Amino acid sequence: MTNAINFDSLWASVTSEPNHRSPYSVHGPDHWRRVERNACILAARTGANVNVVRLFALFHDSRRENDGHDPDHGRRGADFAASVRGKWFDLPDDDFALLQYACIWHTDGHHHKDPTIGTCWDADRLDLGRVGMIPDPAYMSTPFGAEIAAHGVIQPWLHLADSVLGCAATHHLK
Ligand SMILES: [Fe+2]
Ligand SMILES: [Fe+2]
Repeated sequence: MTNAINFDSLWASVTSEPNHRSPYSVHGPDHWRRVERNACILAARTGANVNVVRLFALFHDSRRENDGHDPDHGRRGADFAASVRGKWFDLPDDDFALLQYACIWHTDGHHHKDPTIGTCWDADRLDLGRVGMIPDPAYMSTPFGAEIAAHGVIQPWLHLADSVLGCAATHHLK
């Protein structure tokens, strides 16, 4: 049995690291929050592990070194998560393996059948609007991700995140 994750304090710890991106970088904490929102919306229907997808949102781009070409940033994010596991948060081994895989390979444009890994990647790709790209259903791993991408905006499904995140955590959803 693992203790519940205190996401507020975990976010404070990760974003206070000197290496984090500026808040409004296209790959910075502002993006991480939208990925978390997207992941929670998707998880309501995909059955993804909510702790894993929320941790993915926080760590997947946490070790980017720039907003351009940085092909190893997924691996560095996974290593960073491993380095603070047991100190800032904990997760059972099987779930942690999913988190590691999702972080390491999110940079390569793959699809995945596992609902948790697929939800992580779809949540990230559904935020492509921030860089002027329209999410394409063909690049989604989950049927729900493809449905949202085909619709063009995620706003009609925002309410689904509330049940997962709770009202106190919805400040970043609008
Ligand atoms: Fe990334
Ligand atoms: Fe990302």
